[in-house]
Amino acid sequence: MSRPGYDALADLYVQTFGSPYPTPADREIIEAFAGLVVESGLAGTVVDVGCGPGQVTAHLVASGLDAIGIDPSTEMLRHARRLHPHVRYLADDAHLCAEGLREIPIAAILARYSLIHVSPSDIPEILTGWAARMPSGAMVCVAGQSSDVVGEVVEFDHRVARAWRWHPDAMSEALGRAGFDEHSRTVIRPDAHRRFPEATLIARRR
Ligand SMILES: C[S@@+](CC[C@H](N)C(=O)[O-])C[C@H]1O[C@@H](n2cnc3c(N)ncnc32)[C@H](O)[C@@H]1O
Repeated sequence: MSRPGYDALADLYVQTFGSPYPTPADREIIEAFAGLVVESGLAGTVVDVGCGPGQVTAHLVASGLDAIGIDPSTEMLRHARRLHPHVRYLADDAHLCAEGLREIPIAAILARYSLIHVSPSDIPEILTGWAARMPSGAMVCVAGQSSDVVGEVVEFDHRVARAWRWHPDAMSEALGRAGFDEHSRTVIRPDAHRRFPEATLIARRR
């Protein structure tokens, strides 16, 4: 399991980002995803990959979904469990191999600002692994810092751990090769809260 530098900075992270949604648009994207998951009608669990302090997992649970947060950072999980004791959190990374997660039916996957920390060469294997575990019609939602250069995947100076920005076309193509068809994409332009455009792709298992 990868152990990025989030353990050391978890306290500061929680103090700095009281809300995971710096603008209403950030929140609305997650609410749209939750609505699509409900609409898919699929039974199973929504896995919040790289849940950090768990606020978005808790939001999914409050929206009526059966959701679980997973994260490789022990300290992030400690905060998640402290802040949201009614929500399930597990130690794991994007490969989703943890005991207790391998057997559960997955209705949808959310990966918000977590796949940015996965080396681009490992992304195809991860997305293919997700597709193998999801029924046709299941939704995935991938959000991260983005690029305006068509097709670009470029490393950037993230403060905590190595990270890559993907042009939305590049992530959409990776999702497509793994078995997910793009449903929609949203790009929030740089503002007081973000240095780069940030893209969220929602896609559906073929
Ligand atoms: C910027 S935080 C995002 C937290 C949360 N998803 C949110 O939107 O508020 C990134 C999280 O990704 C996790 N992470 C880093 N590498 C990961 C990996 N390979 N698989 C899953 N999560 C990872 C980190 O531990 C951290 O908690």
